[in-house]
Amino acid sequence: MSATTGEIKRITTHVIQAMKNRGEKIAMLTAYDFSMARILDEAGIDILLVGDSASNVMAGHETTLPITLDQMIYHAQSVVRAVHRAMVVVDMPFGSYQSNSEIALKSAIQIMKESGAHAVKLEGGAEVEKSIKRILMAGIPVMGHLGLTPQSIYKFGTYTVRAKKDAEAQKLRDDAKLLQDLGCFALVLEKIPATLAKEVSESLAIPTIGIGAGPDADGQVLVTHDMLGITKEFKPRFLRRYLELFDAIGEATQRYITDVKNREFPNDSEQY
Ligand code: KIV
Repeated sequence: MSATTGEIKRITTHVIQAMKNRGEKIAMLTAYDFSMARILDEAGIDILLVGDSASNVMAGHETTLPITLDQMIYHAQSVVRAVHRAMVVVDMPFGSYQSNSEIALKSAIQIMKESGAHAVKLEGGAEVEKSIKRILMAGIPVMGHLGLTPQSIYKFGTYTVRAKKDAEAQKLRDDAKLLQDLGCFALVLEKIPATLAKEVSESLAIPTIGIGAGPDADGQVLVTHDMLGITKEFKPRFLRRYLELFDAIGEATQRYITDVKNREFPNDSEQY
């Protein structure tokens, strides 16, 4: 994991930790396919998350629950093939780690062996302690995920901000400490109050990566398709759109259709 490829230094768990230690923010985005992963890696992203948000973004499901282990591995393989520098973290999908630690270990090993990724991410704290322990004992780096955990959407009932009340905030603090003590190398904090994210980030030695968790997490993550404006309707307060690709791609497609219909594509130089 500490290998260098020519001039390019691979991002590893140690590099991520060193970034927190020197106060450099960590930039993470999701990727599910070769072409996008290549662009994001060449642009210098630190971590690419093969998120189970692929279930929504790539497959059009309403939740992250339906995506399978084999489908996650397929996406992860495509991303790994594209990447020279970024660390690739793969979400363990719903059902691949919750039932018992043996299944969790088997799933994590399958992800690592078949995809060539560098780490796994899974949702939850004390509830999944045994699974995390067993995966870590096999030498697989684990990123935790607390706050809004979309695989539990039917328990929460809504995608609103988590840990606003004292009891839930205290459980999050306890879980964050537990994940660090178990040996997780980093922690996603999703949709929690900025003050709580700041407190947790300052209290932990390991890096936190926020999404909808304010500016004081040690890094930030967004779903790439949201950040680029490919998904149109999803507009939570925390999202900053850097492009409006839904509209741009739609306009390009309309120009192409017009050119084809008007016999303006292909022209003399676009043929053999
Ligand atoms: O699946 C995903 O995209 C995620 C991020 C939102 C952190 O877990």
